[in-house]
Amino acid sequence: MKPLRVGVVGTGYIAKNSHLPAIQKEVERGTASFQAFCDVNAQTLGEMATEFGVKNTYTDHHEMLEREELDALYLIVPPTFHTDVELIAADKGIPLLIEKPQTLDMQQALQFEEAIRKSGILCTVGFMMRYYPAAEFIRNRLAELTVRHANLQLFYSGRPIRHWTNRMELCGGSFVENTVHAIDLLRYQLDDDYESVSAFYFERPYDPDPNAINLPYVYNANYKMKSGTVVNVTTSRVLTNTKAGRHETLIICDDVLFEFSHAKVIENGEIVWEAAEKTNPFDVQTKQFLDAIRTGDASKVRNTYSSSLNSLAAVLGANKSASNDGAVFRCDELGL
Ligand SMILES: NC(=O)c1ccc[n+]([C@@H]2O[C@H](COP(=O)([O-])OP(=O)(O)OC[C@H]3O[C@@H](n4cnc5c(N)ncnc54)[C@H](O)[C@@H]3O)[C@@H](O)[C@H]2O)c1
Repeated sequence: MKPLRVGVVGTGYIAKNSHLPAIQKEVERGTASFQAFCDVNAQTLGEMATEFGVKNTYTDHHEMLEREELDALYLIVPPTFHTDVELIAADKGIPLLIEKPQTLDMQQALQFEEAIRKSGILCTVGFMMRYYPAAEFIRNRLAELTVRHANLQLFYSGRPIRHWTNRMELCGGSFVENTVHAIDLLRYQLDDDYESVSAFYFERPYDPDPNAINLPYVYNANYKMKSGTVVNVTTSRVLTNTKAGRHETLIICDDVLFEFSHAKVIENGEIVWEAAEKTNPFDVQTKQFLDAIRTGDASKVRNTYSSSLNSLAAVLGANKSASNDGAVFRCDELGL
C-alpha cells in the first residue's frame, strides 16, 4: 500500500519535539511520507523542512490545502490561532489530528464539530495521555469497581516557556493549556463525562506590561460527573524557582484507593500492574491515527472531535465559573 501523504500546519515546539519525530518513525516504516509543511513563521518552517526533508512548504494553509493532495493533516497551532483549517479539511475529506485545546471559544468548537461530524472525516484531538501504557488497563479495571470520587493535584514547577503560554487571553491559563490533559484522561479512565463545575482561582495582580505572565496562581475546581462521581482538581503555577512539583491523581472507589503513573498502577498500596516496556504516547497516537486512516477502523483512535468537546467544556467552564465567583455551570450548556 502507498504511504499516506501527511501535511502539517504549525511546525513549532511540540511539532518539532513530538509529532514530527513520531511521523518520521512511520516514514521509516514505509507507512507515511511527509508531503507538505505550513507555518506562518518562515524561519521555523525552513528549519523543520530541512530537518525532515520536506520540499513543499507554505506560509498560508489555504495555498497548501488548495495545491496538495493529502491523506492526513496535523493541525498544531495555539488555540487562538484556529480559523478555518478544520472547515477546509472537512470540506475536502482530509482526516485530521488537532492538538489540544481545540480552541478557547466554545462557539467555534461547536461550529467545527458540526462540520467535521457532517463530513464524516476521521478527526482526533491530541489528548495523547490516552495512549499511556496504563490507560487501557485502568479503564478496564475501573469498570469493575465503584468509583465515588477523584482528587487531582497538579502543582507545576518552572515557568511557561512560550510567550503565548504566559498570557491568559492566548492560552486560557494553565488549567486550560495543561490541566486539560488530566481532565480528559480521567474522563477516559472513568468512561464518564463532566456534568457541572464550580471553580475558584487565586488571581495574579494586574500588571500593565503586555508581556508579563498574567495567569492565575492557583486554580481550584470541583466537578460533578454524569455518574454522580465527584472530582476535585487543584492546579497551581507558583513553584517557579524549584524543580519540586506534584502530578498526582487519586481515584477512590468502594474499598479501593487507586493510584497510578503512566506505567504503573497501585491499589491499596500494592502494585497491581506495570508496563512491560517504555513507549512514547505521541508515537502510539500517530501510529493509531494513521492505522485508522489506512484500515478505515476509526476505533483505533481513542477520541473524536465530538467526544472531546466535554473535556474542553470542563476546563472552559472552570474559567467561566471562576470569573463568576464560583457559580455552577453545566458543561453541556457552555456553548448555548
Ligand atoms: N500534547 C502535548 O503534550 C502538548 C504539548 C505542548 C503543546 N501542545 C499544544 O500544541 C499546540 C501548539 O503548541 P506549540 O507549543 O507547538 O506552540 P508554538 O508556538 O511553539 O508553535 C506553534 C506554531 O504554529 C505556527 N502558526 C500559528 N498560526 C498558524 C497558521 N495559521 N498557519 C500556520 N502556522 C501557524 C506558529 O508560527 C508556530 O510556529 C497548542 O495547542 C498547545 O497547547 C500540546
